[in-house]
Amino acid sequence: MLSYQHIYHAGNLADVHKHAALAWILSYLVQKDKPLSYFETHAGRGLYDLGAPEALKTQEAENGYARLNNLGIIPSDHIYAKTLDACTQLHGSHSYPGSPWVAHHILRPTDRMTLCELHPLEANHLRAVFPKAKIAQNDGFATVLSACPPTPRRGLVLIDPSYEIKTDYDTIPKFISNLNKKWNVGIIALWYPILGDARHRTMVRSIRANHENLVVHEVSFPPAKQGHGMVGSGLAIVNAPFNTGSAMSEISGWFAHLT
Ligand SMILES: C[S@@+](CC[C@H](N)C(=O)[O-])C[C@H]1O[C@@H](n2cnc3c(N)ncnc32)[C@H](O)[C@@H]1O
Repeated sequence: MLSYQHIYHAGNLADVHKHAALAWILSYLVQKDKPLSYFETHAGRGLYDLGAPEALKTQEAENGYARLNNLGIIPSDHIYAKTLDACTQLHGSHSYPGSPWVAHHILRPTDRMTLCELHPLEANHLRAVFPKAKIAQNDGFATVLSACPPTPRRGLVLIDPSYEIKTDYDTIPKFISNLNKKWNVGIIALWYPILGDARHRTMVRSIRANHENLVVHEVSFPPAKQGHGMVGSGLAIVNAPFNTGSAMSEISGWFAHLT
């Protein structure tokens, strides 16, 4: 039973971290004139209406990307800022791009996109917004594993679960290890929340034990509301492109203004 809906959280500070990093990695990859395979295990609906009651109820976008934007912190020439602009120009000032929209904006017609999403309504949104992408209304872990190694062979998987299922913390390191065995050149980017009890640490340690080249990038920020458990956002990237570290340091700087 799925209860998590990303519309309540779209555009929050964790989304800024994840979407800015995703935009940077993809913009780096498309510099090379060779096609890519792009996968999301947990896609959400792809495009969010921040004027929807769910988003207005939490105000997470207001305290998230909108706050950074209003403070002029996100440089206008960053690929994330350009993606936000493109989204509002196409879909209106209340729109916010989910990770599939970020990717779709940067990828080229020769690249392949597979979006997994279990929730039927979210999957329907994806079909409407991305008619040319492959939408799999199935478990993202199993779907991506069975599709790899893909053609084209260069590419990226974004893993962005809601961590509603507590066993995710144990199963994700095994999934990443199995995926890497099948697709050793694929970039695997995992997003995780940083909660007060730091429960992500064991998971990240297990991933690092199997992947010496793991790039981990974490940012801290004030909770969206008093009492909110999430106090930061993390990304663990296997086979990260060259220069990912310095690109992430730039993104960290945006968050330093908030604390
Ligand atoms: C955190 S949201 C995704 C947000 C999106 N990646 C973004 O940044 O715009 C997680 C999504 O995963 C979906 N989901 C949960 N379990 C899943 C599974 N096993 N396979 C595929 N999708 C799943 C949920 O319905 C939810 O829409």
